[in-house]
Amino acid sequence: MKLFIDTANLEEIKKANLYGVLDGVTTNPTLLAKERIQPTVQLKKICDIVKGPVSAEVISLDSEGMVSQAKELIRIASNIVIKVPCTVEGLKAARELSSSGIKTNFTLCFSPTQALLVAKAGATFVSPFVGRLDDISHEGMDLIRDIKMIYENYKISTQIIVASIRHPIHFLEAARIGADIATVPFGVIEKLMKHPLTDIGIQRFLDDWRKLNQALSNSGIEI
Ligand code: E4P
Repeated sequence: MKLFIDTANLEEIKKANLYGVLDGVTTNPTLLAKERIQPTVQLKKICDIVKGPVSAEVISLDSEGMVSQAKELIRIASNIVIKVPCTVEGLKAARELSSSGIKTNFTLCFSPTQALLVAKAGATFVSPFVGRLDDISHEGMDLIRDIKMIYENYKISTQIIVASIRHPIHFLEAARIGADIATVPFGVIEKLMKHPLTDIGIQRFLDDWRKLNQALSNSGIEI
């Protein structure tokens, strides 16, 4: 499963990129607004750091506006992917975007029917939001299972990005289901490698090593 980071913050992207396991970035208007920098400038900086797909979202609500914003956004860098909402207007924009060779990521996906229609329209990626479904007492991961099954039924090549991830269990479940990608906030990425037994184990090894050195130096032996 590929790992994307879900942020527009350069420091977080640089740190995660150093881990050597980062495959792409997803941004959205809320994440870009937090950075208080001109979005095009910020997106360019992100694309300079990460060579994989970087999602940038259109703001327009009608298909013509979406297509024209998409054409502006792809000028930022060759790895820009256009995020389009899962609406009827988004669907109308999809065909033109895909026939112009523009990669799309259909965002705010909350149902399997949305995922099927955007795939039929040529979506490169679809982003089902698991955390926001959990927030309203729906099983977010059930949506991933349904989309995965439907895409397999019809050999659909649209890639599933599990989005709105809130904790490591979301990431684990995404991998168990076989999602193509998980887009994960930096705080959750940090938790993925954390285990208290690893920390306790390292401490014990260091303590024992120190004791050995002490014992050897007490008997005049160098190690
Ligand atoms: C995905 O592309 C979205 O940016 C993101 O995952 C939304 O997550 P949230 O529901 O935590 O805002």
